Amino acid sequence: MKIDPVRRLAWSVLVTVSEGGDLDAELEAAQASLVVPRDRAFLASLVRGTIQWQARYDHLIGLFSRRESPHDPRVLNLLRMGLHQMLAMDGVPDFAAIDQTVAVARAVGETRRSGFVNGVLRNLQRRLTPQGGDAPGGPDRIEEMFSSLASDPAGWVSAWYSHPRWLVEDWLRRFGRAATEDLCAFNNRPVPLDFCVLPGEDPETVTASLAVDGSREVEQVAAGTLRVSPRPGRGTIRQLLDEHPRLIVQDATVQDATRWLASGLDDLPDSPWVLDMCAAPGGKSVHLAALLAPGRNLLAMEPDDRRMQLLRGTVTRVGPLPLVRGDGLRPPLAPGSCAAVLLDGPCSGTGVLRRHPEARWRLQPALVRTKARLLGDLARRAVELLAPGGVLLYATCSLQEEENQAVVDGLLRVVPGLETVADEDGAWQKVWLPPEAPGDGFFAARLRRKRETHA
Ligand SMILES: C[S@@+](CC[C@H](N)C(=O)[O-])C[C@H]1O[C@@H](n2cnc3c(N)ncnc32)[C@H](O)[C@@H]1O
Repeated sequence: MKIDPVRRLAWSVLVTVSEGGDLDAELEAAQASLVVPRDRAFLASLVRGTIQWQARYDHLIGLFSRRESPHDPRVLNLLRMGLHQMLAMDGVPDFAAIDQTVAVARAVGETRRSGFVNGVLRNLQRRLTPQGGDAPGGPDRIEEMFSSLASDPAGWVSAWYSHPRWLVEDWLRRFGRAATEDLCAFNNRPVPLDFCVLPGEDPETVTASLAVDGSREVEQVAAGTLRVSPRPGRGTIRQLLDEHPRLIVQDATVQDATRWLASGLDDLPDSPWVLDMCAAPGGKSVHLAALLAPGRNLLAMEPDDRRMQLLRGTVTRVGPLPLVRGDGLRPPLAPGSCAAVLLDGPCSGTGVLRRHPEARWRLQPALVRTKARLLGDLARRAVELLAPGGVLLYATCSLQEEENQAVVDGLLRVVPGLETVADEDGAWQKVWLPPEAPGDGFFAARLRRKRETHA
């Protein structure tokens, strides 16, 4: 049988990523070798989908392997990509998925194990269409195959929604079964594109530019927040941003959280400086700067060279802001010199898993603990930079307690003279939990250094 070079390419990207390779970089390099746009799209969909659903497929592989499930990424990824084509890719008939996977197995030197790959995929196909007919297996028939996990909620949620078990266990304990299932389902859905229309840009003009050829819908999710679907291509987005300099790509939750954080800055001490301590790529810097009262200046800080370039790109396009290269652990600013500090620090990113299909498999509890320690250290430095009466805006795109509530509770416990800054509903910390949230998962809190502590 003639081998499909796109599927063969997909297999090698999958194996490289399983062994620690960078998904976006590997995929981009592989796509560059393909000339037909449809092939590039098929490759991306096969690779990203296979990675996203891998725990679901691994459960099925265990069920349909007559011997022990394979651990070798070469064979495991053949099976996973075969299953993904059979179960999730409309337009790929089962016979093509199976035959092509077996052909790739032979082409990459797995001739001896190609019979095993063929056997597992055909066993599944027989279970999906027991009469040997052509009717595709509906979701109910697939869900039945997970019934052996019914008495193990973490095992079931983890396999069915394809999430790591340790994370599911944590979410089940904190959010409960229904909310955890909703969150995991949300992480498997396509990501829409949200824009933030900053003051100086007219939402109606932007909407008209977006809807110009009638091929997409533009919804106003909140004042200044536009959601576009289907997601335009990169070229269209770039052109749009060139035409509208006060337009930025920013998730709807992040916009909501930035507005909420800014509303805690009503009563600040005299210093003009509001520091964004961990600023790149700069979306929150430019949005927060636009929300500040006259006379306040946002200073954006970033320690990483490559990310500093991204930050410079954002502020050059949207409007100038002073930038400073600096490490938040050793900030190049005098203690007590800031009216407010935004600390949107480096976190595990468990609130944005839908954006990165490989991220959920790379995360480990130890990484969450390491990030939590760093965030706690940065938060203590941030408080030292506040003038008396100054406000700390703390934010992460994590849903983990260690990186969120535990950090702010720790600050309140160990730093004397800190108080909370509540909104009109009494909330001083907030969790944006999808799918209730307008977009990604997020956490934010507002704390103030009391004025009298410097007396
Ligand atoms: C979550 S991102 C910030 C996103 C940004 N606020 C935005 O909305 O575009 C965290 C940033 O913290 C930076 N960072 C990491 N370690 C840092 C440190 N010790 N001090 C300051 N920034 C740090 C990272 O390079 C990264 O750019």
